[in-house]
Amino acid sequence: MNKQFANDVISGLSKHQKTLSSKYFYDDAGSRIFQEIMEMPEYYLTDSEFEILSLQAKQIIEAVNFNQPFNIVELGAGDGFKTFKLLEYLVNNNIDFHYVPVDISHGAMGNLTKKLKAKLPKLSIHPRVGDYFEILSKENVQENTPSMLLFLGSNIGNYHEKEAINLLQLFNDSMKKGDALLLGTDLKKNPIKIQNAYFDQYGITKRFNINLLLRINREFDGDFKIDDFDFYCHYNPLNGEVRSYIVSLGNQKVMLKKLNKSFDFHYDELIWTELSKKYSLDEINNLAEQSGLKVKEHFLDCKHYFADTLLVK
Ligand code: AVJ
Repeated sequence: MNKQFANDVISGLSKHQKTLSSKYFYDDAGSRIFQEIMEMPEYYLTDSEFEILSLQAKQIIEAVNFNQPFNIVELGAGDGFKTFKLLEYLVNNNIDFHYVPVDISHGAMGNLTKKLKAKLPKLSIHPRVGDYFEILSKENVQENTPSMLLFLGSNIGNYHEKEAINLLQLFNDSMKKGDALLLGTDLKKNPIKIQNAYFDQYGITKRFNINLLLRINREFDGDFKIDDFDFYCHYNPLNGEVRSYIVSLGNQKVMLKKLNKSFDFHYDELIWTELSKKYSLDEINNLAEQSGLKVKEHFLDCKHYFADTLLVK
């Protein structure tokens, strides 16, 4: 049994405002649903970042300016689709580097490795499965090899600003002088555009959230009746926060047999599941400053929906 997950579920569902963390969305089924989200036209984030990495790979690598072999360590690589263009650019230009994708989903890592080996046979790839905090502290960044960390896809948006700064400080601590971090953040924009990306009409994002209840049922022998829960999410343009929730459609009790616990849900009660925070460029500059990293350059897509910011130590 995953002890950390068990503890987090118990403490989250015991709170007055119930919570379940989005970091548990990504079991193999959840990773596949996230894949579907990335393919929705409404979920502009993927296309925007794909455009940046496709059209500006050369500029990014030139700005990084490593004049020797280096490592690219991608934290939370997922299926790695958006990174492909960057890797392709490097391979096609015979630039000497190792690619180290890191992800908690075994399935996602396996698929990524298979796909990349087929598409870029010359790529040197060393995938790692695990929590990226652990891997980063273990994966003792090699003394003489410069590293470029990738933290793409607006994964930083899942953290409150303070935690985001802590996380960036942690990255900073594992970096050597001259190392780089490419940070993907979703930018503040027309709230309707953002709302539509998260409250999709096909119910894919709903399935993504409800899958967490299925995972809890499976791993802790629970009896969540998934038809008795719905999904709601809301973007607040004043603070840049999308917040996602699971809604209880009635008064109900849920047993988690393996944990020997039960939880009561009342009619319309919310379980907060995810924060997806949006930033302005000024706020990204501030994140960098607070975490002791220097902004070298912001790379934006043509619609200015998304930023990949190059930070250096
Ligand atoms: C993978 C965390 C960047 O917050 O946009 C997509 C996850 N949640 N739709 C995001 C997600 C709902 C996604 N991140």
